[in-house]
Amino acid sequence: DDPAADPFEVAATAAADIARLSGVATHDIAVTLGSGWGKAADLLGETVATIPATEVTGFSKPALEGHVGTLRSILTPTGKRVLVIGARTHFYEGHGTRRVVHSVRTAAATGARIMVLTNGAGGIREAWTPGQPVLVSDHINLTAASPLEGATFIDLTDLYSRRLRDLARTIDPTLDEGVYCQFRGPQYETPAEVQMAKAIGGHIVGMSTALEAIAARQAGMEILGMSLITNLAAGIQTSPLSHAEVIEAGQLAEPVISALLARVIEAM
Ligand code: 6GU
Repeated sequence: DDPAADPFEVAATAAADIARLSGVATHDIAVTLGSGWGKAADLLGETVATIPATEVTGFSKPALEGHVGTLRSILTPTGKRVLVIGARTHFYEGHGTRRVVHSVRTAAATGARIMVLTNGAGGIREAWTPGQPVLVSDHINLTAASPLEGATFIDLTDLYSRRLRDLARTIDPTLDEGVYCQFRGPQYETPAEVQMAKAIGGHIVGMSTALEAIAARQAGMEILGMSLITNLAAGIQTSPLSHAEVIEAGQLAEPVISALLARVIEAM
């Protein structure tokens, strides 16, 4: 949070903490687990180390139930080193974008070249049903914030890698995709805001991922985004939204989507 600190140096320190605490010098792939995706880590391979996020520089206590609060180093059957981030800081917590993207910058500093960002989100497409995973094809950042500081004019074409989306579809050919709109939250959108998101080309509404993807691109990583549709967005579904509903949908879908995610990562 110190404005005088260099966020990339803080991330390098965090990566050194992870190397020391896990005994694993570098990682190949990093995955952030959103609500509903938590079980994927267990299916990925052998857990080499589980580190409480609070022991790593720059990480904060998880603010939310359904979020794990640990970093795990996993060795997959084909020898890939995967850093599993179960400690996400959301923009709505109000700590600024540096804290939001710290885990992504740390993952890059551990050597990870692929960043998998998962989340639980609302669906705008009426054809989608709660419990369905969808790929993120692009995003619209509605937070009015950026993790980039200063004159950092990076390109965001093909931000969510077509190669990785195609690879995910070799595992599940039925995977649909859509444009993710990151709202600040923490309140869910009004029906009018959902109609706005739809009108400007959005299909998924959520409170994470876009800012993290920008930081991952800045770090030169290849990005895969996957959303679990936990509910339809306000006004698309007629019943009111509740956090409990989101958590429950996540728990129901967890075995299926976690297995999917583990297979996609093993295919990378
Ligand atoms: Cl409807 N909106 C947002 N912003 N996040 C969500 C959601 C909706 N459902 C689950 N997460």
